Amino acid sequence: MTSPAVPSPTPSPRTAAPGAYDGAVADRDEAAEFLRQYHAEHPDQPVPLVRRLDQVRAAIDDAGTYRLTRDELVFGARVAWRNSRRCIGRLYWNSLRVLDRREATSPEEIHRQLCAHLHQATNGGRLRPVISVFAPDIPGRPGPRLWNEQLIRYAGHRRGDGTVLGDPRNADLTEAVRRLGWQGSGGPEGPFDVLPLVIETADDKPQLFELPRDLVLEVPLTHPEFPAIAELGLRWHAVPAISTMRLRIGGIDHPLAPFNGWYMGTEIGARNLVDKDRYDLLPTVAACLGLDTGSERTLWRDRALVELNIAVLHSFHAAGVRISDHHTESRRFLAHIAREKRQGRSVPADWSWIVPPVSGGITPVFHRYYDDADQRPNFYAAEPDPRRGAGGCPRV
Ligand code: ARG
Repeated sequence: MTSPAVPSPTPSPRTAAPGAYDGAVADRDEAAEFLRQYHAEHPDQPVPLVRRLDQVRAAIDDAGTYRLTRDELVFGARVAWRNSRRCIGRLYWNSLRVLDRREATSPEEIHRQLCAHLHQATNGGRLRPVISVFAPDIPGRPGPRLWNEQLIRYAGHRRGDGTVLGDPRNADLTEAVRRLGWQGSGGPEGPFDVLPLVIETADDKPQLFELPRDLVLEVPLTHPEFPAIAELGLRWHAVPAISTMRLRIGGIDHPLAPFNGWYMGTEIGARNLVDKDRYDLLPTVAACLGLDTGSERTLWRDRALVELNIAVLHSFHAAGVRISDHHTESRRFLAHIAREKRQGRSVPADWSWIVPPVSGGITPVFHRYYDDADQRPNFYAAEPDPRRGAGGCPRV
């Protein structure tokens, strides 16, 4: 069920400024390697590679860091997606919309830009892949951070008997936001209460911000043949926007760089609503469908799982919200590999994440192996932060 964590890049002591090691010092070698790659893939640059390399080396010697140009940032963010070994949806990496938000510093401004991100990404249901890149870590000044692992997350309310109402994955975060003063989403606690954002900057304490309700597009789940499924009152949000992974480009870390694509149905219908440590709904769905759960031999779990996945795809489609199925995404991924090969590139991929959690063997991605190298630029799991619970869990 789980996969190994992504290894963090090892800081190179050679790059440290005199005095104590500062994790925010840009890695010189990585910077040079990135610039070479950028110029190789985009040869017609106003500033020739040798000049740019000199500039960047001088800036790192002087200040411990350098500033990526806007075009370098756009390229770096797109290639970080291209290099994401766990992502099956990389065919469209080159059309990622990159929002340069490095100038946003106050929590209020960051909140405003996160809302703008959701608005552009949601696009009335015709979801667009978007990334917003906020200020990097630089020597003496860490960039902003978000405690929420995605922009939209459902609360997990711990109850006296040890059970959790809502998403148990977010139970620690829910307690953390309550400690910061969150009173709940208004009305009684429910299984799908959208959590507020917790934004932390170098100058301010962590601050809570509600997401305006009309920015959070959600889809109520119904089934094309079994009306009883609708009565379960299940729903899921339209936009998956990962917000705790660090974006590393050219030796510079951006700790807040939320990015989204669109859902593949199984993420919701075979994991979020189904994993034992998430909503754990297979027994409920099976009861609703009247399945015989007396023996594993009836494959009631599998039948409930397929019907739940049908409900997810059907409901998103009916609501006009972009989603894709695992058969289509698997074929697209192989098309991506073929296209990259024509460009002379290999596609790093982690088999255990690429193969869908249902019907693996009937998707073409199952029947082969992949190169699995850590190529940069890339996204890396955040370091755990005890204040917000586990933090940085790799299982996104
Ligand atoms: N699996 C995560 C979730 O269910 C989202 C990860 C990113 N997924 C995506 N389709 N871009 O919320």
